[in-house]
Amino acid sequence: MSRTEWCLKYKVEKKCSTTKARAAVFETSRGKVHTPVFMPVGTQGTMKGITVDQMKNMDIEIILANTYHLAHQPGTEILDKFNGVHNFMGWDRNILTDSGGFQMVSLIHLTTLTEEGVEFAYPHDQTRKLMMTPEESMRIQKSIDSDIVMQLDDVVSAGIGRGPRIEEAAERSVKNPVYRWLDRCLESPLGVNQNIFPIIQGGLDPEPRIKCSEEMTRRKAPGFAIGGLSGGETKDEFWRVIDNSAPLLPVDKPKYCMGVGYALDLIVLVSLGVDMFDCVYPTRTARFGHALLIDGKELDIKRGEFAPIEPGCPCECCKNYTRAGLHILFRSRQSVASSILSIHNLMHQKRLMTQMREAIIADNFPSWVFAYCEKNFSDGS
Ligand code: GUN
Ligand code: ZN
Repeated sequence: MSRTEWCLKYKVEKKCSTTKARAAVFETSRGKVHTPVFMPVGTQGTMKGITVDQMKNMDIEIILANTYHLAHQPGTEILDKFNGVHNFMGWDRNILTDSGGFQMVSLIHLTTLTEEGVEFAYPHDQTRKLMMTPEESMRIQKSIDSDIVMQLDDVVSAGIGRGPRIEEAAERSVKNPVYRWLDRCLESPLGVNQNIFPIIQGGLDPEPRIKCSEEMTRRKAPGFAIGGLSGGETKDEFWRVIDNSAPLLPVDKPKYCMGVGYALDLIVLVSLGVDMFDCVYPTRTARFGHALLIDGKELDIKRGEFAPIEPGCPCECCKNYTRAGLHILFRSRQSVASSILSIHNLMHQKRLMTQMREAIIADNFPSWVFAYCEKNFSDGS
């Protein structure tokens, strides 16, 4: 029997009168999340180089962690001793865990896919294997005790786009006998305060996406994700899939587009009704010395100047460091350099989402988008 009652409650506060954007709030047993929201990625039960107090100071309400990585390290035995990853990492706010599905694409050279699940060879010892079935992903996510659990899905790189493998993936992602993995997830035990999101697959064509959404939304899940994107398709194809798929999902549940973090994508997708996003990009690019600016540009810290990264940004980095100072810290490989720049980049994401949320609430989101684009693309780029 699959579960139909979930603790996550979602409430739309304001709908944009022109676009499909909405400002909303959802609440789990670990607190509220105001949307649209960008979720920073702390793959391994830590945000690389950033403390939990620093995340709280930025008012971050939810982060993402990865089932696959946490299964390796610290592993479920230790997670169970801690009663979950929250105590392990000292973070008492919301955590969403990705299911391991995405590693089918990112670690494809280590995987063997069968109906049962996906088998991963260990990167440094290919004789050791991890068999990630829907049931195993749920077992691990139960030990993690994440507030939002993602189903194990069959992910195909969006670069493939269409064809029989895409249809197989969309069908396998849902139920028996045509659609399969979602129901196996829903039939697996989870904690009473945990919530599970299905993930719509189906490549770039509308038809398999429509079939997959129809089947998945029949299940009483507390929120839905759109997956299988940001993998090499054009922007036009990507945005078109969201334009077609987001309206197929229930209006009274959060909609989450997985693996999205570029400012322009966030703006387009918010206007198409998406509430939740995640991506490693802001923190990863920070470690390479790249700062995100509110005018949409990426600044290479190597060009030193005696000014903060972003004048007016309230983050710890912009309050205390100059571009020139950070440049020197990067050049001498001081670990604080990537930490402090990660803080700025996460603050950039937070400010962008807050600006959109406030514009939706004031019902001037279209003019906010117009002003943003005018600022960012006025030089023709
Ligand atoms: N991260 C980005 N895209 C996806 C996806 O399609 N599935 C999962 N599980 N994670 C993702
Ligand atoms: Zn800053």
